Amino acid sequence: MANPKPSSGFSHEKIETNNFLMIVLILLVLLAGGMVEIVPLFFQKSTTQAIPGVQPYTALQLAGRDVYVREGCYNCHSQMIRPLRAETLRYGHYSVAGESVYDHPFQWGSKRTGPDLARVGGRYSNEWHSIHLNNPRDLVPESNMPAYPWLASTPVDAQSMPAHLRALRRVGVPYTDEQIANASQELQGKTELDATIAYLQMLGLALK
Ligand code: HEC
Repeated sequence: MANPKPSSGFSHEKIETNNFLMIVLILLVLLAGGMVEIVPLFFQKSTTQAIPGVQPYTALQLAGRDVYVREGCYNCHSQMIRPLRAETLRYGHYSVAGESVYDHPFQWGSKRTGPDLARVGGRYSNEWHSIHLNNPRDLVPESNMPAYPWLASTPVDAQSMPAHLRALRRVGVPYTDEQIANASQELQGKTELDATIAYLQMLGLALK
C-alpha cells in the first residue's frame, strides 16, 4: 500500500498522540462549558432573589438549622423536591432556587433514607416532632431513624448567635441591626429541641 499522503497543516493526530496537549485542550473545553453553564446563574434573578414569602431564618430557626447540620440529618433527608409527578404528588410543589437563597450552605442533598423534608413544615404538630425526635419508634414502629433524646435537655448556644447572624449578613442575608441585637435574647431558655422543631415547622411554607 502506498504511504498516506502527508497532510498539510493541522492534523488531529497531533492532539491524539500528545498527552499534554490533550489534557490542556480538555481543560479548556471544560472551562468554557462551565462558564457558559454556571456563570449566568450568579446573575439570574430566579436563582439569586428570594421568592415572595421567604424570610431570613429567625434566630431560633437558625439554631435549629445548626442542629440539623451538626446531627447530620442531611445524610438521610434531602430538601429538594424534583419536578416529577411522583414527587410533587407525595411532597408538594417542586423546589425552586429562590427558596434557598438565604441558606448557607443549602441542604438540598440527594440521599433519601427518610422522606424529603423540603415541605415538612406544618405537616405535623410540634408535639409530634417532639415525640418523634426523642424516639422515632414511639410513632413509627418500623423507623430506622436514630433517636435524639439529648436535644430536649440541651440549651441552645445563645451567646454565639449574634456573630452567626453578622456572618450571614456579610454573605448577603438581609438581617437588620435590631435582629442581630435581639438574637441572644430570643434564644433565652430555649432548648435545641425547640429550635429544631421551629426550623422543621417553617420548611417549605413559602410555596405551599
Ligand atoms: C439514618 C437515617 C436518618 C437520619 C440520620 C435522620 N432521619 Fe429522619 N427519618 C428517617 C426515616 C427512615 C424516616 C421515616 C420514618 C419515620 O417517620 O421515622 C424519617 C422521618 C423523619 C421525619 C418525618 C418526615 C415525614 O414527612 O413523615 C422528620 C421530620 C425527620 N425524619 C427529621 C429528622 C431530623 C431533624 C433529623 C436529624 C436530627 C433526622 N430526621 C435524621 C431517617 C433518618
